[in-house]
Amino acid sequence: MQSKLIEVDAKKDFGDKEFRFITEFRHKFPADEINIDYRSKKLIAHLKVVDVTELRKAITSLSQKHHLDKQNNPFEGLVHKIEGIKSYGLKGQKRLFVGYNKERKVKNRKKKEQKRGIHFYAADNNFKKENNSLPECFSDKIICGDSEEVLRKLPDNCIDMVFTSPPYNFGLDYTSTDDDHIWENYFNKLFAILEQCIRVTKFSGRIIINIQPLFSDYIPSHHLISNFFIKKKMIWKAEILWEKNNYNCKYTAWGSWKSPSNPYLKYTWEFLEVFVKGTLKKCGRKDDIDINSDEFKKWVTAKWSIAPERNMKEYDHPAMFPEELVERALKLFSFQNDVILDPFNGVGTTTLVARKFGRHFLGIDISEKYSHIAEQRTFSTLF
Ligand SMILES: C[S@@+](CC[C@H](N)C(=O)[O-])C[C@H]1O[C@@H](n2cnc3c(N)ncnc32)[C@H](O)[C@@H]1O
Repeated sequence: MQSKLIEVDAKKDFGDKEFRFITEFRHKFPADEINIDYRSKKLIAHLKVVDVTELRKAITSLSQKHHLDKQNNPFEGLVHKIEGIKSYGLKGQKRLFVGYNKERKVKNRKKKEQKRGIHFYAADNNFKKENNSLPECFSDKIICGDSEEVLRKLPDNCIDMVFTSPPYNFGLDYTSTDDDHIWENYFNKLFAILEQCIRVTKFSGRIIINIQPLFSDYIPSHHLISNFFIKKKMIWKAEILWEKNNYNCKYTAWGSWKSPSNPYLKYTWEFLEVFVKGTLKKCGRKDDIDINSDEFKKWVTAKWSIAPERNMKEYDHPAMFPEELVERALKLFSFQNDVILDPFNGVGTTTLVARKFGRHFLGIDISEKYSHIAEQRTFSTLF
């Protein structure tokens, strides 16, 4: 197996202590995983597979042992360069720097991507690039009202991320609205609210919709909603499968039992559709990132296994999502101090988690009762 060559300018001739460092390093790490050497004022590493956390620890402790100063320490420079390598495979805790993509079937992927073009359906969008601040009277607020009406009062491009779960039209018992509309009416109203969401989202902002289709009525809500966003020139960034693992369905519905004539399938998951306005890349301050490397590694795999909310009775709401779902989405797709909007805020799961993780927020719900609970929950919880 070949190795990946990394070079760091040592800027000086190595002396005894650096060579002793190299000797000890070689005792710690097998040469067929990582081998380091010194040649013509260069520190050289041949990399194949390495546990980067262990590498960082070893470099720090050997540097201390051999009294290498932190400033011009080429070994520090080397580990920094290795940590910065963006493409690698994973083998347990170790990063695989060679041979990890030999199974890849598509060669010259970048070139082909350039030829085909990406997200062509959103290319001719007309989105304004100037962003605005959310007026103070809407910042960190829970508002009771119809979202379409409330959102009309907001300026364009003032929200960093919308995170929401609309009513699914399944027939649930909400306090102020029916949940069993004729489908055309349901989608017309939903799209009027989502249209406002697009308008108030900043250029480079995100809209994430948690949705469960009504499989039993053959209504693919997640596809219809995605189609709406795509027609509005939003970029489809991602789809997350929220695995709820709720296999113990209370009812038995087989459709045509033991016959291919019309079997009924069962589902234990919901979807999160992620859309972005204008560009895939969202700018933000490095200091405002709050996701750690373990969370990042785990959550970029787009199947999230999270148990459904268990406290719905306590808050008297029939369709809450769990706090962990919001936490993952906020940390993965937004920065601290961003403004988060939930236009179907219910009893305030989004606004609570936004406040917990240092985001600004605006939560809107048509029900006075839910808005009251949301306010209590969001503002009285101590973090
Ligand atoms: C699926 S629930 C959201 C629950 C929320 N994610 C939580 O964890 O509490 C949908 C919410 O939309 C609200 N709603 C329905 N129509 C609305 C409208 N036109 N404007 C604002 N809220 C509305 C309902 O009152 C309901 O609380």
